[in-house]
Amino acid sequence: MRVVERINDVRSTVKEWKSQGLKVGFVPTMGYLHEGHESLIKKASEENNKVVVSIFVNPIQFGPKEDLASYPRDLKRDSEICERAGANLIFHPENEEMYFNDFSTFVDMNGLTNGLCGKSRPIHFRGVCTVVSKLFNIVAPDRAYFGEKDAQQLAVVKRMVRDLNIDVEIVGCPIVREEDGLAKSSRNTYLSEEERAAATILNKSLMLGKEEIQNGQRNSASIIKIIEDSIKSEKLARIDYVEIVDSSSLEKVEEINKSVLVAIAVFIGKTRLIDNFTYEL
Ligand code: PAJ
Repeated sequence: MRVVERINDVRSTVKEWKSQGLKVGFVPTMGYLHEGHESLIKKASEENNKVVVSIFVNPIQFGPKEDLASYPRDLKRDSEICERAGANLIFHPENEEMYFNDFSTFVDMNGLTNGLCGKSRPIHFRGVCTVVSKLFNIVAPDRAYFGEKDAQQLAVVKRMVRDLNIDVEIVGCPIVREEDGLAKSSRNTYLSEEERAAATILNKSLMLGKEEIQNGQRNSASIIKIIEDSIKSEKLARIDYVEIVDSSSLEKVEEINKSVLVAIAVFIGKTRLIDNFTYEL
């Protein structure tokens, strides 16, 4: 496995693979990898001949008050995880390699990006769409792998690929969790011991909501209330949003009569965590 920092090195390597008729899978990440990322890389290596992983903490998807500076980084450990999971190439560019000083072109999306995380992170998805389309142009993969943990991101990337005719198949992968149900996240490392224990409230509350739907409740407001009340029972938790939306349009659903995404964002202390489940009807 090679680690390269230059766009040209990625391009020439992938070009050579493709000239041999090999299929290329791609897993974009911001590093500090855990079993969630690892599951994406493993799936990519099962379904493709070669796998590229990008590790780049993309500055333009962080708001001015967000955690860009403190975002955890450990390339050595990440490389070991990538190698073990079957990656062939890591693309680890510096900011200067990705963004010229006078960089001025962005990929922006309406609709899908307005609600859920887009509401409290107004420039986030513009940054994600821009960097992901740049990475698709650099790597030119056959398939790209994204986690359902970031359900809105997955929907946004699928829509962007459709709208801009990008020739890549987007593959969604299930959420990987800790034993106590907390969704794995690089940001879990910010949590103190007390906060880590409190963070289990996200999945616990979602499961209460799921149970309610399974028992036949179809009214979104009642399900949302059950989830919110449960989150509020944890004193370290502060709700950003609890929403039930159509799983592809991400529009709010009042009565559940089709597949829905139940998604939440909750601050535990200063750390903002997200989680969700999809209910197929
Ligand atoms: P990052 O947060 O590093 O996540 C990279 C990929 O791993 C995303 O597709 C995310 O959904 C997936 N992932 C994270 N935690 C997961 C879990 N517990 N189970 C399954 N998959 C999980 O998402 C980003 O980076 C960036 O926005 C990026 C797409 C790289 C653009 O900068």
